Amino acid sequence: MAQLWGGRFTKETDQLVYNFNASISFDKKFYEQDIRGSIAHVTMLAKQHILTDEERQVIIEGLEGIKADVENGTLEITDKYEDIHSFVEANLIDRIGEPGKKLHTGRSRNDQVALDMKLYTRDEILEVDSLLKELLRVLLDTMKKHTETYMPGFTHLQKAQPITLAHHMGAYFEMFKRDRSRLRDIHTRMNTCPLGSGALAGTTYPLDREYTAELLGFDGPTLNSMDGVSDRDYLIEFLSAMATIMMHLSRFSEEVIIWNSNEYRFVEIDDAYSTGSSIMPQKKNPDIAELVRGKTGRVYGALTSLLTTMKGIPLAYNKDMQEDKEFVFDAIDTTKGCLALFTGMLKTMKYNKDHMEASAKNGFTNATDAADYLVKHGVAFRDAHGIVGQLVLYCIDKNIALDDMSLEEYKAISPVFEDDIYEAISMKTCVDTRKTIGAPSKEAMDNVIALHEKYMIIE
Ligand code: ARG
Repeated sequence: MAQLWGGRFTKETDQLVYNFNASISFDKKFYEQDIRGSIAHVTMLAKQHILTDEERQVIIEGLEGIKADVENGTLEITDKYEDIHSFVEANLIDRIGEPGKKLHTGRSRNDQVALDMKLYTRDEILEVDSLLKELLRVLLDTMKKHTETYMPGFTHLQKAQPITLAHHMGAYFEMFKRDRSRLRDIHTRMNTCPLGSGALAGTTYPLDREYTAELLGFDGPTLNSMDGVSDRDYLIEFLSAMATIMMHLSRFSEEVIIWNSNEYRFVEIDDAYSTGSSIMPQKKNPDIAELVRGKTGRVYGALTSLLTTMKGIPLAYNKDMQEDKEFVFDAIDTTKGCLALFTGMLKTMKYNKDHMEASAKNGFTNATDAADYLVKHGVAFRDAHGIVGQLVLYCIDKNIALDDMSLEEYKAISPVFEDDIYEAISMKTCVDTRKTIGAPSKEAMDNVIALHEKYMIIE
């Protein structure tokens, strides 16, 4: 057991207590951030003449040596240490002796851990963002290829009106684009440096907190030392953003699963992203989509967990806050893994254009357009609705589509129908006449796609 705070104690910590209290098994994940923060801290201490330039020099060399040795495998982070902060400090003292004991001048583990977690999260936000961008790229490429791939649009999972695959993918493009802007907001709001908050009440040393913040790429220091050590809002916001990303991925997964089913056959998931059954030789299962849908629960769980952990904590630091780590790490790894796999699956998925179009035709998705045709020929909408209802009943009885009825059959139900009805209810007309911003026509989609292309360049 290696503890930083043994001086006041007369007995060894009980082993079970030690294990319960220790965080090294998970906070070793941010050894790099811990060392980065310490380097900035001693650089600032030397600038303020709290340490000498020589001391700064040896401490930084020692810290860089620890980082290099951890990375090349010669130094193992073991649970002999209580947490990553103790590990780094103890190893530093082993390496460079006396100057190492000055590293923690004007600092507490409370502001140190607040900093490390922020640095770690800030890096991870950028990684999640770049995975989202890769997903947007695949979506946009799919949109470009499929502005004339017709499919049914659904409400209540019932065929409603025809749309295109580009339009459907475009809805997801909007969702994941919003997810990126949420991450950007969080990044902006969280980007203040807690180091220098001390245990809770700042320090008596003449620290230059602005300088430390600048060295670490923050917009400035946090403005209240109690909040500085005990703010975990940014983690809750990040978890909430990841929960939303997962919710979007899960909805999309649900659609892929439906589309890939034997009944739909709108898509075929690539063999590389499917799995088989141990008993049923014919099976090709959409396990990746199902797992993404399933793992959404883990990320929601992490959000609920941290909200609950934080809700009863008085100011300032309390050990409860150590519980901010494992769930957040798990949520980040889960979200990143799901984004990467989902993107790969989407990129290799084949779209069955013929099935999609046939499905749109068989489901009376052009019934609204048939009613609109009558309206354009002077029939009141409510009457037109009734007439088309009769047409639909007739077709169901005969097991045909509206497009398959003869003109005589049309006229038998309403004399208003003429030869141009076929053109008016064709899939192409149904889609192409929906030209308003955000609608599925090729013209409207091409405009949106051009905007998205610009977005991909600047954001
Ligand atoms: N492992 C601790 C955490 O993650 C570090 C801070 C410890 N501070 C303290 N006062 N015990 O929160």
